[in-house]
Amino acid sequence: MTNFSTIYKLSLVAVTCLVHACSSSCPVMECWFVQEKAGRGGGLAGATTQEKTLIHIRKDTQSQSAESRRAPADINPERVYTFTDPAATLCQPAFNPPRGSVEKPQCEVNPFVPQPSSLKWVASLTESALSPIYLEAEWFSASFHGLNQRLGVSTISRAPTGSKEHDGAAHFRAPSLNVERRFVSELFWWSFSSVVLSVSSRTMSAQARLGEPVTLDCGFRADPSSPLSSSGFAVEWRYQFRGDGRLVLAYDGTSDRLADTLEEGATMDFEALHQRGNASLTLQEAKVRHSGMYICTVYLPYLLAQVVMELEIVEPPSLSIHPSPLPLTVTGQTLSVQCEASGFSPLPLELSWEFKGSDGKSRPLGTGSVSGHRQAWDGTFTQSTRLQLDTSKLDLGTGGEVVCVAVHPGGTRRASATLNVIGFSGPSIEDSMAMVGVALVLYGFIKFISWTFTSSGSNTAENQEKKEK
Ligand SMILES: *[C@@H]1O[C@H](CO)[C@@H](O)[C@H](O)[C@H]1NC(C)=O
Repeated sequence: MTNFSTIYKLSLVAVTCLVHACSSSCPVMECWFVQEKAGRGGGLAGATTQEKTLIHIRKDTQSQSAESRRAPADINPERVYTFTDPAATLCQPAFNPPRGSVEKPQCEVNPFVPQPSSLKWVASLTESALSPIYLEAEWFSASFHGLNQRLGVSTISRAPTGSKEHDGAAHFRAPSLNVERRFVSELFWWSFSSVVLSVSSRTMSAQARLGEPVTLDCGFRADPSSPLSSSGFAVEWRYQFRGDGRLVLAYDGTSDRLADTLEEGATMDFEALHQRGNASLTLQEAKVRHSGMYICTVYLPYLLAQVVMELEIVEPPSLSIHPSPLPLTVTGQTLSVQCEASGFSPLPLELSWEFKGSDGKSRPLGTGSVSGHRQAWDGTFTQSTRLQLDTSKLDLGTGGEVVCVAVHPGGTRRASATLNVIGFSGPSIEDSMAMVGVALVLYGFIKFISWTFTSSGSNTAENQEKKEK
């Protein structure tokens, strides 16, 4: 019985391990550690240093990755970090490329300084007293871009401050928990930090058609074990395009209040926001002016994390051909056809012409003379091309379709008009014979009709004469 229960326990452990191993696909990522150059009081913008860093991600403090903890030769062991991410936001497949993959997720780590915000919709978060001891730690902000460029995550993580002792080149850092104590031959303690706030988006580069509703995804997770997570949050959506910026939406989650903004038709699902941290922004009707960068910022007291995503409104053109229908054309005549592409965005557009013969074969007729573009009140563009079709130079047969082709990122559009050509080229002998035949028959027919008419006409005249008599 004891044996059985031992076996049972062992197999249970084995199964748990297996399940755990299978589900824990948290990656090890190579990132850049970027920080301002030390000792630069003058504040030269852009004076930063970049160092390669390695980040081990894990779901909980117990799980240990099987990978060797030794840093690669080109990475300073001091810049090897372990991030504990209980929400497993960073353990998604987009951050874990198959072995040997050329494409790698992108990431950058920066030192972060917690500080209260004076923004109107954030200030209330830091009004209540909070334990400043918790803030006295080493903080990092990190941003990650997934493989397909669709997923982006930003995190704020905290490494409890331990004793930092400098011993020549060596650098000691006491980890927070005993289980995390690992000793590496280079005499380094690994830096363990836990993700306190993560903000992510699945629509890092979004596209939408004109007039459609658009949802820009943004979600956040705050570590429930952090004292900062219980004091509420704030969410802010900002728009940025070529130096022009505006506040789209700002929401104070503590007082459940929206800031006044000028943006119309921009909403969030506040229930989903409070229940699941879903801070997605919905624009009810996509307009050209919505194209640009959107920044979703989530605030916790003293902390903020943000993801920047791009929205592009892509609308293919509507085409129209003038004149339509095309006039009946005689061989040798030059026909002028215009094609107007309107309501498209963004630029550029490629316009060209094709001729599709009665045999179904298409051949290019060039671009025609393409006009400059004009912008309409709604931001969409209009552009046209004029084709001078010299019917004597081209063998167009008896006609076919004149096609205007517009190639646009939103799709290729075509419009066509039927062309009928009357040929004056010499008729064949059979045609001539037939014509002569037809002419003869016609002549005979006319002759017959006129003879019948005249004879019947004289008859009536005679009758009348008789009556008068
Ligand atoms: C968040 O809400 C939006 C609608 O507001 C929805 O489209 C999206 O799927 C939600 N995301 C998640 C992860 O539930």
